[in-house]
Amino acid sequence: MANEKVKAVILAAGKGTRMKSDLPKVLHPIYGKPLVGYVIDAAKNTGIIDESIVVVGHGAEKVEAFVEGYDENSKCVLQSPQRGTGDAVAKAKDLLEGFKGTVVILYGDTPLVTPETLNDFIKKHHESGAALTVMSAIFDDPTNYGRIVRNDDGTLKCITEEKDTTPEEKKIKEINAGLYCLDKEVIFPLFSELKCNNAQGEYYLTDIVALTIAKGLKAEAYILQNNEEIFGINSKANLAEATKILNKRTNDRLLAEGVSIVDPDTAYISPDTEIGRDTIILPNVYISGKNKIGEHCKIGPFAHIRDGATIGDNVRIGNFVEIKKSTIKSNTNVSHLSYIGDSELGEHVNIGAGTITANYDPVLKTKTKTVIKDGANTGSNSVLVAPVTMHENSMCAAGSVVTKDVEANALALTRSPLKIFKEWVTERLKRGKSGEK
Ligand code: UD1
Ligand code: CA
Repeated sequence: MANEKVKAVILAAGKGTRMKSDLPKVLHPIYGKPLVGYVIDAAKNTGIIDESIVVVGHGAEKVEAFVEGYDENSKCVLQSPQRGTGDAVAKAKDLLEGFKGTVVILYGDTPLVTPETLNDFIKKHHESGAALTVMSAIFDDPTNYGRIVRNDDGTLKCITEEKDTTPEEKKIKEINAGLYCLDKEVIFPLFSELKCNNAQGEYYLTDIVALTIAKGLKAEAYILQNNEEIFGINSKANLAEATKILNKRTNDRLLAEGVSIVDPDTAYISPDTEIGRDTIILPNVYISGKNKIGEHCKIGPFAHIRDGATIGDNVRIGNFVEIKKSTIKSNTNVSHLSYIGDSELGEHVNIGAGTITANYDPVLKTKTKTVIKDGANTGSNSVLVAPVTMHENSMCAAGSVVTKDVEANALALTRSPLKIFKEWVTERLKRGKSGEK
């Protein structure tokens, strides 16, 4: 059983009314990555879940387009109309045809679950030999959650939804987290027996617990240690809070790995960014998307790394610098007020203050590349109009607009001649207010 493959079913069909948004709930991003992307990654990073089936409904086309472009091992299935969580899981039946093994059920709006917890959950499920294991958590305030109802001997009895609870059950603090491990061959046939005779008229996935027990099969509960992991996103406020939690988690990990973060409260770093030891992150830095930053770099203050940056060792990214989809090799400096997009910078390059790589053609709506080879320097306030290459040790003078490749060791300069008018200020004062300009 240890090497058995496991598949995930991710429920993502719900509407998300409280987001008050045109975007389907699970596509709301944190650091550029949609919520459902986090859940897909958590499943994949267990190393044992080899496929995720995402149940889509509300905004299905958009969600499907994202999922299929994001991960080749994820598929979507449509649930329309949305008749409850039990109905949603049942929709994955055809895609799981012939699969014998464990299915893990996750929610697309619960992005903070970790691969470590999922692995432990699956391990405990296998060890106990249960047909079904539900993840529970102990909440001081269990309002709105399904309650885990146990027998006097502590064994699992059923799950009761808030709207269907008795006053006695309402007091239970052990709640249903909404994640399940189940033996596909044994449990999936039971989905056809779910009824919708409850307060919401829905097919409740939670009823599968009592059904399993009624069949004489073993159902267990796995109590989650860190409640943060099942934090669900229902509103923009939740989204902001999840971002904070995620950021703290990332920064704590980076600090433990030897990255210096001067002010973790203002260092916004995506979890998909790798940073080498002894790199210093100064205050007010925003790093989103997937990036790799080497050792002994200095990033910030006030730097923005937008996605797809690969940065070597001993690189300086200073204030008011934006980097996007670019490779920057070791010992290179981009110290102030610059935009580097779709670019390749070699080693020992010095980018002067205010250098812009003009990578976007607004007429053709295309982006092209700027290449700056080893040892090249750009003067302050220069614009490199892509596609363009500055070869080894070449330079461009301050204020230049570089539209052609610059050969190795050459200087590029575009500049109108400087004129100096002696005593101009004195003369101007003499002419006074009404005088000619
Ligand atoms: C559900 C559980 C509840 C648990 C809580 C934890 C049921 C009946 N209740 O309640 O016991 O404490 O989660 O957060 O399962 N979805 C679909 N299709 C549907 C309905 C929902 O895909 O027809 C998806 C939603 O998009 C969401 C997830 O399932 O990702 C949970 O649905 P939601 O309506 O939020 O369930 P809760 O009422 O929170
Ligand atoms: Ca919910």
